[in-house]
Amino acid sequence: MKKLLLLAAVALLTLGCNQTNNTMDKQQAALDNIYTRVSVRHFTGEPVAEEQIDALLRAGMAAPTAVNKQPWAFLVIDQPDQLAAIGEAFPNSRVANGASLAIVACGDLDKALEGEAQDYWIQDVSAATENILLAAHAMGLGAVWSGVYPISERVQQARTFFALPDHIVPLCIITVGQPAEQPAVKDKYKPENIHRNRW
Ligand SMILES: Cc1cc2nc3c(=O)[nH]c(=O)nc-3n(C[C@H](O)[C@H](O)[C@H](O)COP(=O)(O)O)c2cc1C
Repeated sequence: MKKLLLLAAVALLTLGCNQTNNTMDKQQAALDNIYTRVSVRHFTGEPVAEEQIDALLRAGMAAPTAVNKQPWAFLVIDQPDQLAAIGEAFPNSRVANGASLAIVACGDLDKALEGEAQDYWIQDVSAATENILLAAHAMGLGAVWSGVYPISERVQQARTFFALPDHIVPLCIITVGQPAEQPAVKDKYKPENIHRNRW
């Protein structure tokens, strides 16, 4: 009987340890994904699977938004000629030429808050964009954020190029593809950026 109890205790302890290790592994994997994400600007041209596109969009829309307004719209570009045209038209998105996918992350002003809180859409769509970049990295894809808003010339150009309705504001073009480069991870941690309790 004593032996049985001892065996049960050991089994429970082992189970507990395994679960703790599992949780620690998951935590480290999530942190490593954040720490090792880099902008990728060269792509092999190989396609991005439809399930991966779906996962990227789900990751984007999992982001937090002010008052949970979700004031966004995502324009998915996957036609090679359209991607090539983006690369030609937007000098800062030249990498789209060679990428397999571009997601134009936009704010939807019809869904945004009113008054001075309207501009929260910028932070909301930025949070979605970072989620997409992190999801791409987790799936072994490369991606880069090409800024559009608030440069009015680029906003106007994107409006015309993508035939956007007036209430849709393009924040950025996220270019995605199979990576043809592995840029070094930048260590941006600087203790001097941190203040505690008071400045
Ligand atoms: C708001 C914003 C705008 C950006 N615009 C561009 C851009 O137009 N072209 C580009 O190649 N990269 C752009 N980037 C990517 C940055 O250059 C990149 O994140 C930065 O150099 C840090 O490198 P990392 O992403 O590898 O950590 C942009 C990033 C942000 C957040």
